Amino acid sequence: MAGRIPPEFIDQLLARTDIVELIGSRLQLRKAGKEYQARCPFHDEKTPSFTVSPEKQFYHCFGCGAHGTAIGFLMEYNRLSFVEAIEELATRAGLELPSDGETTPALPDVNPLLHLLERANDAYRQQLRQHPEAHHAVSYLKQRGLTGEIAARYQLGFAPPATDFILTHLGSTAVERDRLRICGLIAERDGQRYDRFRNRIVFPIRNRRGRVIGFGGRALGDAKPKYLNSPETPVFHKGRELYGLFEAQQANRHLNALLIVEGYLDVIALAQFGITNAVATLGTATTSEQLQLLLRTAPELIFCFDGDRAGRAAAWKALETALPLLTGQQSLQFLFLPEGDDPDTLIRREGADGLTARLAQALPLSTFLLTQLQTQVREIASAEGRARLATLAQPLIEKVPIGVYRNLLAQELADIVKLPQLAPPPRPQQRRQSMPQPGRLTLIARTIGLLLANPELAAVAKPLATDWQRSSTRGVDILKQLLNTLIAHPELTTAMLLERWREHPHFGYLQWLSVHPFCAIWWRRMLQRSFEMG
Ligand code: UTP
Ligand code: MN
Repeated sequence: MAGRIPPEFIDQLLARTDIVELIGSRLQLRKAGKEYQARCPFHDEKTPSFTVSPEKQFYHCFGCGAHGTAIGFLMEYNRLSFVEAIEELATRAGLELPSDGETTPALPDVNPLLHLLERANDAYRQQLRQHPEAHHAVSYLKQRGLTGEIAARYQLGFAPPATDFILTHLGSTAVERDRLRICGLIAERDGQRYDRFRNRIVFPIRNRRGRVIGFGGRALGDAKPKYLNSPETPVFHKGRELYGLFEAQQANRHLNALLIVEGYLDVIALAQFGITNAVATLGTATTSEQLQLLLRTAPELIFCFDGDRAGRAAAWKALETALPLLTGQQSLQFLFLPEGDDPDTLIRREGADGLTARLAQALPLSTFLLTQLQTQVREIASAEGRARLATLAQPLIEKVPIGVYRNLLAQELADIVKLPQLAPPPRPQQRRQSMPQPGRLTLIARTIGLLLANPELAAVAKPLATDWQRSSTRGVDILKQLLNTLIAHPELTTAMLLERWREHPHFGYLQWLSVHPFCAIWWRRMLQRSFEMG
């Protein structure tokens, strides 16, 4: 998978990423000379030994030996896979991931589909104003307390009862009819094509750029099913989208908090009452992708769930999905509504002030986690009960990335079970121990280290690139490749160079070499000695 992302793209990505900014958004960095320092997020320490080099675009901890590029940092700190880290950086940098013609089936061109969805949206909106049956829809919306203004803001429409409204309106050619099927607007049964959305109020689902990618349709009154959604299509992936996110971003220049609710009409009703920062998952449990997107958008998330069993279960599921994403920079909270209520009914009864007051009482994730577990343990008063609580909580806490937040969670648990703070688990790889002693580094290794840390020296090394290249000494192939890369691309940073070896069995070793001060010190001594002699 990783090999499929071309190195040029990774170069571009790293060129557009500032590791200082990336890490600085997660840790408190302080400038120290040419570099930045912080207390290491990967081990406990009192004085900072974690350094970030803007020049090398590389971080390194002198205490525990953790180090890497911006990509490596996201993988370690946020527990992302390589591809996820690439995606995250690409999103931050506003770059599109290159699609790989060889390994993925040719993607359909999505532009005609988006265009068609936009036209369908226009047509549905027009029907809400014009269709002879639309007054049922309009009075339904009014009965639910929605104004024309809010309907316009959310671009609500009406799908007429006919089975062929969209079909005849937008499907005049075979190509168009095929596209209508691909984007889920028409369905097919026994060779018969017909409109998917009929006699329903339609809610366009827009992506973050405001393009319509699908629809939700609500039946008028009690018809079944109550809601019908677009199926998965090349442009619509339920697990990645959130209803109302575009509108929330439109309404708020800066989003500090987002409310996550269950339904389309919850989002709209809240907006009607001036709470314009709600989004809804699309009839499914919150996915990790959705959470990552939300956390990138706002540092504070409040989930609103029903107070019933199903609501608690859904909240627990969201909590489990969220744990690996928690870095301590964000706040996640849970609000449980009274039984029988949803945000829509609640805000109509209690108004925006009522809901806001409840939001202020939302449970922090840690409280929800520990209280929910305590309900599973019969008696917290006994040693057995407390041990059981610790046993239940431990694996959950371990899902949280290593860092201050995880330690705090562990501390909170320890306080409840009255244990001394649980020892932090050892780092997954004890890099320092497995690394060779500097004294035993070969000449080749020292040279590789020197060049990785100081790519500009390649120009000096260029004339040397002759005889030794035929040698079969270990590492020569790497050094050769390194020099050739640097000769072709002298502008590459340490990070960009290192990323070229991510798949290499010695990747960890190369990263270690690049920060090894002995490489430079040794070379300086060598050169000095040769000057003195000459
Ligand atoms: P609810 O059943 O809680 O509906 O479904 P609601 O949002 O309160 O709707 P109203 O107030 O009765 O109009 C919550 C969400 O679950 C999805 C929809 O996304 C809905 O908004 N859902 C629900 C479906 O996809 N299909 C259904 O049949 C029902
Ligand atoms: Mn409802």
